[in-house]
Amino acid sequence: MSTNSYTQDELKALVGQAALQYVVPGEIVGVGTGSTVNKFIDALASLRDRIPGAVSSSEASTERLKALGIPVLDANQVDSLSVYIDGADEIDGRGHMIKGGGAALTREKIVASLSRRFVCIADESKKVPVLGGFPLPVEVIPMAAQRIIRQFAALGGQGSVRLKDGQPLVTDNNQWIVDVRGLKIADPLAFESEVNQWPGVVTVGVFAHQKAAVCLLGTPRGVETIEY
Ligand code: A5P
Repeated sequence: MSTNSYTQDELKALVGQAALQYVVPGEIVGVGTGSTVNKFIDALASLRDRIPGAVSSSEASTERLKALGIPVLDANQVDSLSVYIDGADEIDGRGHMIKGGGAALTREKIVASLSRRFVCIADESKKVPVLGGFPLPVEVIPMAAQRIIRQFAALGGQGSVRLKDGQPLVTDNNQWIVDVRGLKIADPLAFESEVNQWPGVVTVGVFAHQKAAVCLLGTPRGVETIEY
């Protein structure tokens, strides 16, 4: 089999372009956040006359969509979406993901939950056997941050509040992010359910209940389609 030496940026562009096949003409599309999704948004501009618009998962994606002339609808205006297209920080062999490296996890999970099919676009560095190598992002209510960090310590994780310019990073929802290192998430469904119950947790960055249905994985051999 022939292989090419794509850069990571080229792999992101390849999967962003490949995701267009999942966009249904005449239907609103759910759009994620991140550098891989930015490639998808750029490619989506070619279909802007064939879709009514998009529901976006972040201020950053909204800005990019609008700049390309793609209307952005409020999530409350739609009952359901046929497809949600987003990247991941890690994806395991069953389509479970860690997300939130771009701090957009809460809105991403909301838009994913509105969608019938989650199409993950990723370069192959994101594929892992077990989730947890990437620090797990958790969006939290600020006053609960230290208690949540202690709860993760009891599970063997080392949490810290994400900073920007020396201050806690503030999300699009005016909350904070705790990043947790050192976890091995063998049972993502049970883990997500448990952490969701902790007071002060807004969203845990494990996407197991909203896992991917399909992953378009950018590899040196081209785009591989993995169905779960
Ligand atoms: C944003 O909060 C994340 O969930 C992104 O989807 C994830 O971090 C992947 O981003 P990249 O495509 O930039 O790697």
